[in-house]
Amino acid sequence: MNALLVSTKPATMQVWREELLALDPGLDIRLFPDTGPVEDIAAAVTWNHPPEDLHRYPNLKLLISMGAGVDHLFRPPGPPPGVAVVRLVDRLLTTAMSEYVMLAVLRHHRQDEGYRALQAARVWDELPAPDTEATRIGILGLGNLGADAARKLAALGFRVAGWSRTPKELPGIETVSGQDALLPFLARTDILVCLLPLTPETEGLVNARTLAALPRGAYVINPARGGHVVEEDLLAALDQGHVSGATLDVFRTEPLPQDHRFWAHPKVILTPHAASITIPRSVAPQVVDNLARLREGRPLANVVDVSVGY
Ligand code: NAP
Ligand code: GLV
Repeated sequence: MNALLVSTKPATMQVWREELLALDPGLDIRLFPDTGPVEDIAAAVTWNHPPEDLHRYPNLKLLISMGAGVDHLFRPPGPPPGVAVVRLVDRLLTTAMSEYVMLAVLRHHRQDEGYRALQAARVWDELPAPDTEATRIGILGLGNLGADAARKLAALGFRVAGWSRTPKELPGIETVSGQDALLPFLARTDILVCLLPLTPETEGLVNARTLAALPRGAYVINPARGGHVVEEDLLAALDQGHVSGATLDVFRTEPLPQDHRFWAHPKVILTPHAASITIPRSVAPQVVDNLARLREGRPLANVVDVSVGY
């Protein structure tokens, strides 16, 4: 009655097993779908696991997301009542996300596509000089990822502001919170970065109304979740030139359908949900630590507030 269920892509599951056993050889690990008796399972570490399956284990006490996001655990029917949910907070995960955001910001800010086009045409010409101190970046979400990206972009010299649900203080970053602050925040944003969790409150937050609040020519970067963006509204804003371009890592439907307009849109740069990929070696210690906390009745780390969904 103390087994750990591991569920993700088959090849990745083997890596998880090795990393976890290297830290605690006594762990009883079951790789989905070879669960053994359902009564054995006390905890599960999963990614995109069928949500209804998690209701089959009568002794399940702890759900561990294999990522920073937990929306995959909150899809209907949601986590079984009374089961604790924790997520990953990891230095490498945070660093990788900030790298992704900085790359997208700098590629746009330094007009990389424009210079590649000039090179392709063998044209020796310069584009207007970018003004870093005048460029206003707005980050939706100032959690582990948003706050780190904000600090690093501010260190590069950009004017950075961030929006969160509850008030935050971050040195060198203009911070605002709550629904009333959203439209004014967007109105001062030249480059919008979404690093929100996907919850009922944030679903569809990047839509025709919020995109219209951005200054004409603003740029959009979304490495959070596809559900944050109303894709038709973003396509319309791109086609009308109100939004000058977008870097997107996540989509409503993943893998992105072959016939989706984003694939070939001249103003879209996309990646296949790869902005920040969990490295099992890096996160195994916190998983083993939370399993020990569970066994010993100590408070868990990185607990998700089930009532707000992140
Ligand atoms: P986090 O630490 O939980 O931070 C979430 C931030 O969003 C917090 O600042 C929170 O406000 C804010 N927020 C939540 N609901 C809000 C609302 N209704 N209005 C305004 N602000 C709201 O999460 P994280 O670790 O930074 O991760 C963020 C997301 O990134 C994850 O949930 C995941 O979806 C995504 N992600 C994507 C990848 C990828 O490879 N594409 C990798 C990792 C993570 P408070 O500070 O007031 O709580
Ligand atoms: C990846 O998308 C994560 O949530 O860690």
